[in-house]
Amino acid sequence: MIRSKIAGIGMYVPENVVTNKDLMKVMDTSDEWIQERTGIKERRFATRYKDTTTTMGVEAAKIAIERAGITARDIDFIVFATLSPDYFFPGCGVLLQRMLQMREIGALDIRNQCSGFLYGLSVGDQFIRTGMYKNILLVASETHSYALDFSTRGRNVSVIFGDGAGAVVLQPSQDENRGILSTHLHSDGSEAELLSMMNPGFHAGRFAENKKPPMPEKPYGGLFITEELVQKEDLYPYMDGPAVFRKAVIKMPEVIMEALSQNGLKTSDIKILIPHQANLRISQYVQRKMNLSDEQVFNNIQKFGNTTAASVPIAFCEAWELGKFKEGDLICLAAFGSGFTWASALLKW
Ligand code: UT7
Repeated sequence: MIRSKIAGIGMYVPENVVTNKDLMKVMDTSDEWIQERTGIKERRFATRYKDTTTTMGVEAAKIAIERAGITARDIDFIVFATLSPDYFFPGCGVLLQRMLQMREIGALDIRNQCSGFLYGLSVGDQFIRTGMYKNILLVASETHSYALDFSTRGRNVSVIFGDGAGAVVLQPSQDENRGILSTHLHSDGSEAELLSMMNPGFHAGRFAENKKPPMPEKPYGGLFITEELVQKEDLYPYMDGPAVFRKAVIKMPEVIMEALSQNGLKTSDIKILIPHQANLRISQYVQRKMNLSDEQVFNNIQKFGNTTAASVPIAFCEAWELGKFKEGDLICLAAFGSGFTWASALLKW
């Protein structure tokens, strides 16, 4: 049986460090509130005219490719996960293909927010298992800071997000006991608007029974951005934080248990769980519920905030650089976020 393995991993975060105290200069918040409710001390924000979602993805990709011992010309498929693309279309996959001067290979963009990297991992895994591709580049990158509401009105959303990118190269594993054991993907769109940025868009929610938050009364006649929209300052992400939190702490343990039981494994077999870095309290809740030790759960939200799709590969890369796992160790990745979508993966390093 062919399994896929991670042959190289890389990350890039912008140099601009933004502390909680920096945010206090522009909105009514406090270092205590942010640390107590989220665990975040600081995050990185992209530098204008230097960092974009694509350029950060390119930097992470260069490291992953080099660590895999190949060149960008060897890559035969690109998967790019982001909720903050540089253009409305085309996606960042082709922009990365151009910047890295790759061959005319396939480039697939994924819009699955916090679970985007895991959805991408699953897609890449299937292509490797079937023998279709030999070197897949999976990139997850986010630039939140260009589109957040930094007034007090937006504080429940703006203080948690940060910018950055992570990347992996997937290859067939020579050893069938090593590599990705399984991936598990889920979604529930019944509350899609609870964590959403609906503009620019066509407001599909007007046609759904469950309309949260309230949709605009007037249809926009197909225009993406109207004067009315700009005046309402309705162009920022919306999040019902407590509702998302409640769902996350149910679905994360559930999807981790699903992965373990499919492989006949127990929580004590996990060397390290790398959860999506949404909120330190969510990770701690999952840890307690699953009876995992501090050594079994890796968190770095304190330094980088929530980087959505990029958070799992950034944490994964940092854990690898810190030597938190070695050959043969069982690694579990899990994420929950907007959609809602959630996912997990189990792999033997
Ligand atoms: O990665 C995608 C998935 N996202 C998540 O998993 C996020 C899940 N949710 C969360 O992490 C948390 O809900 C938040 C960190 C977003 C918010 O924490 P919370 O403990 O749920 O706070 P809350 O929204 O219930 O707000 C509590 C209070 C409110 O004040 P009142 O009404 O009690 O007077 C808020 O106005 O805290 C206030 N508040 C703030 N105060 C200072 C909200 N944001 C802030 C802030 N600074 N930044």
